[in-house]
Amino acid sequence: MEDISLVKAKPDDWSMVLEFERASKSKFFSALETEEEAKNYLAESQVFFVLLGKEAIGTVSYKPEEDSAYMDGLTISPKYRKKGYAKIALHLIMEKAKDYKRAYLRVHPQNSFGVIIYLKEGFRITGWEDNHYGDNEPRLLMEKVTE
Ligand SMILES: CC(C)(COP(=O)(O)OP(=O)(O)OC[C@H]1O[C@@H](n2cnc3c(N)ncnc32)[C@H](O)[C@@H]1OP(=O)(O)O)[C@@H](O)C(=O)NCCC(=O)NCCS
Repeated sequence: MEDISLVKAKPDDWSMVLEFERASKSKFFSALETEEEAKNYLAESQVFFVLLGKEAIGTVSYKPEEDSAYMDGLTISPKYRKKGYAKIALHLIMEKAKDYKRAYLRVHPQNSFGVIIYLKEGFRITGWEDNHYGDNEPRLLMEKVTE
């Protein structure tokens, strides 16, 4: 397997997190845009850098809720995409969130690589929301329940 690992992001890492978010912004992904948003994200969610060897190539996160892990972030830097790294990073963070009965997330229905990665990790589609983020774009709800 490729040399992919996760390392916890610290509050001071907000600008690096923001860089990965901004590089991923598209019609299909409502990225964090401001310093305040990035700082809140780091305060409320468990955010990890995806490392390829020693180099950070993306981010992955979950937000702890009562009995669920809300998978609220996954980015891979454009030049490192389509090499299977997101799939590995998702698998690694699911290991970290394995004590939660349920993991769930939102993804744009046309974000085909995103949807595929989650399906391969065992998520299923449970719903559709027309405009959750106020961007006039729909999102699928997906969830994985641990046995
Ligand atoms: C979505 C995203 C994280 C995917 O990252 P990635 O590292 O390129 O994804 P992977 O290489 O792990 O691809 C996983 C699967 O997608 C499919 N895939 C990837 N590249 C493909 C290609 N060129 N053609 C067809 N299928 C492809 C494959 O099924 C692959 O699974 P496999 O390795 O078992 O074949 C990345 O595109 C990104 O950061 N996008 C912006 C942010 C975002 O949309 N995040 C997720 C939504 S919440």
